[in-house]
Amino acid sequence: MNSITKLTGIAISAVFLFAGPVWAEGNAKLGKKVFNKCRACHALKPGKKKLGPSLHGVIGRKAGSESYFKYSPAMKSSGIEWTEENLEKYLQAPKKFIPKNRMAFGGLKKKKDRKNIIAYIKSISK
Ligand code: HEC
Repeated sequence: MNSITKLTGIAISAVFLFAGPVWAEGNAKLGKKVFNKCRACHALKPGKKKLGPSLHGVIGRKAGSESYFKYSPAMKSSGIEWTEENLEKYLQAPKKFIPKNRMAFGGLKKKKDRKNIIAYIKSISK
């Protein structure tokens, strides 16, 4: 193998290495559009309250743990941590995942939308 073929090989593997996880995890750009469904109630600026709490840094945080926001007892006592997996289940069917929580949102039916929105929330939380 000459060095050009080698370099090309490395470059191609690098593209796959980066592209792979991005696809598995969803696409932040597409997620930004899906987030329009949440925007009326959720800010992305840390500490900013709308009808719901800011979603900045929500991944990894304990549900119902922002001190400036008055959560429902159901959310506060859920004992859930917002891992990507839990967030995905919540967004699919909020009222099913945490009964009696106060988020008036029916859910995102498409798995792709949920994955993309999670990627977007992650991308703005850095
Ligand atoms: C009609 C307003 C409304 C819409 C639309 C809405 N939410 Fe919410 N959301 C709320 C409220 C209110 C709460 C607090 C619920 C509680 O305390 O029971 C909440 C809570 C949450 C939480 C838990 C936050 C925490 O700090 O524990 C997450 C995550 C969340 N929403 C994500 C989303 C996403 C993503 C969307 C869009 C797909 C969305 N919400 C759409 C009102 C809304």
